[in-house]
Amino acid sequence: MRSKNTDSFFPNSWYRVATSAELLAKKVIPLHYFGKDLVLFHTETGIPCILDAHCPHLGAHLGYGGQVKDKTIRCPYHGWLWDHQGYCAGIPYSEKVPQVKIANYPVMEVNGLILMYYHQRDESPTWKIPQLAQYDSKQWTPLRLVHKWTARTDLRNYLDNSVDVSHLYQVHSQTFKAAKSDLVEIEGPVLTHKMSQKCNLSSLSSGGLISEDGSVTTTYYGLGYDVSFYQTKGTLELSLLQIFTGTPIDNNRLEIQIFFSVKKALPSPLNQLLALMLKKDTVTTFEQDIPILENKIYPSNPLLQEEDGPIARSRRWANQFYQ
Ligand code: FES
Ligand SMILES: [Fe+2]
Repeated sequence: MRSKNTDSFFPNSWYRVATSAELLAKKVIPLHYFGKDLVLFHTETGIPCILDAHCPHLGAHLGYGGQVKDKTIRCPYHGWLWDHQGYCAGIPYSEKVPQVKIANYPVMEVNGLILMYYHQRDESPTWKIPQLAQYDSKQWTPLRLVHKWTARTDLRNYLDNSVDVSHLYQVHSQTFKAAKSDLVEIEGPVLTHKMSQKCNLSSLSSGGLISEDGSVTTTYYGLGYDVSFYQTKGTLELSLLQIFTGTPIDNNRLEIQIFFSVKKALPSPLNQLLALMLKKDTVTTFEQDIPILENKIYPSNPLLQEEDGPIARSRRWANQFYQ
């Protein structure tokens, strides 16, 4: 039994719904994404599962008071059990077990995040998000949440903004100067975009400017998840990794979380400080985009200049997730 998609039109992709740290053993978490009420839980056998939230018996929400028992979740209302695939697994006061199923969704856990696959027609995923070599590496600070935002925007507008080169030094001039797009590679659901730019590392010099040559390579895995590597070369050789995740709450709202790790380039305590400063830059930079994203429209025939970056190409690539 699948809850009805209304007029929602979300791209088919993997989406962050929680962090591994939030989903402890036997934990039950109510979720609301893609205009749906959902429940996420971790079975005693260690499997993360997502089901539609409402129990088919009399409609209780499994995420509020539901309890994990072995491989099942127990409804808080009359105690019916539902297994990790959504099948009814028992009724405490009846011998009869109805052949009924709650909709379940593909889930994967990678790089400290719990991801759910959403598909408009409930098709199974044909690709996955890869493990990052830097995750768990001693040379990198632990991947941590930088910040979360709920913004009145969507993933098509986010993608336009993310590959847009000319806005970098117009909107984010405290961080970027003279950016240019160097390379775009496309392989199925993966798009890689490399840019080079001058970076102003303002927060590292108390508001003064340190100007460095830098590059950023962003790899988009579908539309809800991308990984960026920033590097500067010069007096400061900085490397940082950033995971962007955007999960639609409904047709109007996107929940954005950015995660972040820095290569340990300095003596031990200073790396945390470096991470904190760069984290501040990341928040400032993203918050400069939010008022634009929240109030812009999405023209289907924008007046693009070559210097704007690969907006038309990334739009063509993104169409595959809306089919
Ligand atoms: S509503 Fe879930 S067991 Fe009755
Ligand atoms: Fe931006």
